[in-house]
Amino acid sequence: VSLRGLNSLGIAATARYFVAVHDSGELTAALAWAEEQQLATLVLGGGSNLVFAGDPPGLVIRIAMRGRHWEDVRNDEATLVLGAGENWHDSVMYAATSGYRGIENLALIPGTAGAAPVQNIGAYGVELKDTLVSVTALDRHSGETVVLAGEDCRFGYRDSLFKQDPGHYVITEIRLRLSRSRPLSLDYGDLKGYFGDELDLATLTPLDVANAVMAVRRRKLPDPQTLPNAGSFFKNPVVSDETWQRLQRDNPGIAGYPAVGSVKLAAAWLIDQCGWKGYRDARVGVHSHQALVLVNHSGGSGADILALARRIREDVKTRFGVELEMEPGVVAPPDPV
Ligand code: EPU
Repeated sequence: VSLRGLNSLGIAATARYFVAVHDSGELTAALAWAEEQQLATLVLGGGSNLVFAGDPPGLVIRIAMRGRHWEDVRNDEATLVLGAGENWHDSVMYAATSGYRGIENLALIPGTAGAAPVQNIGAYGVELKDTLVSVTALDRHSGETVVLAGEDCRFGYRDSLFKQDPGHYVITEIRLRLSRSRPLSLDYGDLKGYFGDELDLATLTPLDVANAVMAVRRRKLPDPQTLPNAGSFFKNPVVSDETWQRLQRDNPGIAGYPAVGSVKLAAAWLIDQCGWKGYRDARVGVHSHQALVLVNHSGGSGADILALARRIREDVKTRFGVELEMEPGVVAPPDPV
């Protein structure tokens, strides 16, 4: 089965065995079959955060559990339950249209609901962990279905238990606690700038915010349907106060977000300064509006993307002494990058 249409970077890879699973029973059966056949497995959501560096060995399992409903509707709050295979952006629009707040800043993030906790998706000042109450998953060690509370998912910046302990859990459902009255998050520069002086908090709806986020994202981020990409290709590196002071001294204009005891640097700025923005070769390149996004112009392979990523990392390291960490996962890497 060709996986080209099943990864947002549009890399041509082939699955030897492939199955789409629509409920936990099918998932368990697929995993049991792979074990019987002694095949490796790859669990695939929307494919928007991975690089195929080769063909995945064994069985590819596409998570296709659908379904969304409300639970525990009380006062101003309600819990939105999403099957792992639900499209994330559609779920955001569904919540926002229903008047519920909490995930509207996460509009237009590609991928599925089940993949969202893995990297604790975040944008415009909001992270999934802010509303996530629990994750239902198949524990592959015990074969049991478990419910992990948000506090137990070890969420960090683009990080979680599911990323730290890959292969242990397969997420089947998530629960988000949303509210009709919680304050909207409009502090992020780009978003504030979008509303400008017209900002009237009293009348603003979560749908207005979702629409604004979509407009802002469309200005900078390429649509994977027309220009294949995996969103931000690197994490924003976190450095010590000392390093930040050194960098500021040597590089007036450097972009960073200070936190307690550390500073998160804008990786896009570092890459941009090294002259990579808009770079392209015959197959792959760096997006012309956002230096953090690598794009596949025409038939690029995983190796092409990873080679470009390595050159960028080396440049940033040489020029600023800062290590960039890749954001997407690599499937079947030939060499560590
Ligand atoms: N900048 C440049 N050159 C560029 C782009 C940005 O110098 O080409 C500088 C600007 O100074 C800008 C700063 O970098 O102010 C930050 O850029 P931006 O606001 O676009 O955000 P980001 O830090 O590059 C992060 C997330 C995005 C998320 C946006 C908005 C990561 C790795 N990326 O990008 O997430 O949409 O903030 O919240 O944290 C993703 O993970 O796939 C993703 C798109």
